Amino acid sequence: SGALEGSNAKRGLWSSRLAFILAATGSAVGLGNIWKFPYITGENGGGAFVLVYLACIAVVGIPIMMAEVMIGRRGGRSPVNSLRLIAERDRLHPAWKLVGAVGVLAGFLILSFYSVIGGWAVSYVGTAASGQLAGQSADAIGAIFSGLLSDPGTLLMWHTVFMALVMVVVAKGVRSGLERAVSILMPGLFILLLVMVGYAMTSGSFGQAVSFLFEPDFSKLTTSGILVALGHAFFTLSLGMAVMMAYGSYLPKNISIAKTSITVSVIDTGVALLAGLAIFPIVFANGLEPGAGPGLIFQTLPLAFGQMPMGSLFGTLFFVLLIFAAWTSGISLLEPIVEWLEEQKGMNRVVSTLGAGTVCWALGIASILSLNLWSDVAPLGFIPMLEGKTIFDLLDFFTANILLPLGGLLVALLAGWVMSRQAMENELSLSAPAFTLWFVTLRYITPVAVAVVFIYNLM
Ligand code: PFF
Ligand code: NA
Repeated sequence: SGALEGSNAKRGLWSSRLAFILAATGSAVGLGNIWKFPYITGENGGGAFVLVYLACIAVVGIPIMMAEVMIGRRGGRSPVNSLRLIAERDRLHPAWKLVGAVGVLAGFLILSFYSVIGGWAVSYVGTAASGQLAGQSADAIGAIFSGLLSDPGTLLMWHTVFMALVMVVVAKGVRSGLERAVSILMPGLFILLLVMVGYAMTSGSFGQAVSFLFEPDFSKLTTSGILVALGHAFFTLSLGMAVMMAYGSYLPKNISIAKTSITVSVIDTGVALLAGLAIFPIVFANGLEPGAGPGLIFQTLPLAFGQMPMGSLFGTLFFVLLIFAAWTSGISLLEPIVEWLEEQKGMNRVVSTLGAGTVCWALGIASILSLNLWSDVAPLGFIPMLEGKTIFDLLDFFTANILLPLGGLLVALLAGWVMSRQAMENELSLSAPAFTLWFVTLRYITPVAVAVVFIYNLM
């Protein structure tokens, strides 16, 4: 049966560790790696930011992913019900169910703007396939992108297409076909990124990009940059909103949670770093601005596609694979909401998907308008930290930098301080030192790191 079918009666276990890795990787690898990581790295000065991000993945991300998968497997149900079951079995306070509720809210807000960016990728398939990129200058490529952003109707059309793709799969509740596709298309994306890195090595300012990405200059690191790095660790690994909990509930008991979590995190990080190595050589070779913002990949990669042999073909393929990566992530954003509606409100899957998807789609219109008609509207601009942030910026900031770390903090506290240690030892079946390492990290280091970053940014 499909990996995430709604009814518990149909719940089957993952056929193998591989099936879990594919689905979890499908959720993790997405726009966060290829669109977001390069542009926030550019905005935050490169190397030092990358280092903090990698530290966040290792010290905060991987332990929390293990905790989420563990809680999911122990509960064996959807996140909200897993938490309820564990609360009963391990005699916890019922308020821990709220972890699932944070996830539902975060998924809803993230998908609204994620789908708009997914729409950009859809639009660029046509741009690349029609040969419009061939031989264009950086200015002309930039103009194509600003032309897209300034046109709400076109943005709405592609946003609608992307959201429809997500809704169709979630409504059907069958993901098995999609998981099989992940096993072909994800390696495809990986290989295409390698091709792009190869192109960047020969035609771009590769050395400059490598030192930008990997030579830390701590004078460029700000406290808000640290918050962005932490938030992105959650965003990119799909943590803090119970997605990995939902997936973990399907993992067979005899499979190592630690090994699978580390595998997924390493793949995700690898894709992000490859994207950086593909993009920044082009940025520097063409005198573009690393801090150009959310449009960075749409202003750099198309330039490379326009110059390289068979660029229209590679470009088309790249954006198709990017859509696919975003699609599997989008599905994992909508799925928890739909499961929650089914379980809590007794709605059927198709109605839940239509309802939740439509509200999400409508909220996406605010993000679309933030790119043009409302680009000067900063609703919370009176708060110094949020100065100049459009609705789109605010949704991104509030979800990635506040809600997801908060959800992750709750998971860390639950596993580090509340759940039965014996139960967790059984579930993880690690060696004694490895368990202690995980436990101590989750009990002390993770909560302190998240709290310190929060408090610093509020001051
Ligand atoms: N991890 C996805 C990405 O990097 O694009 C985004 C995402 C998916 C975040 C699912 C959160 C989530 F629950
Ligand atoms: Na990711």
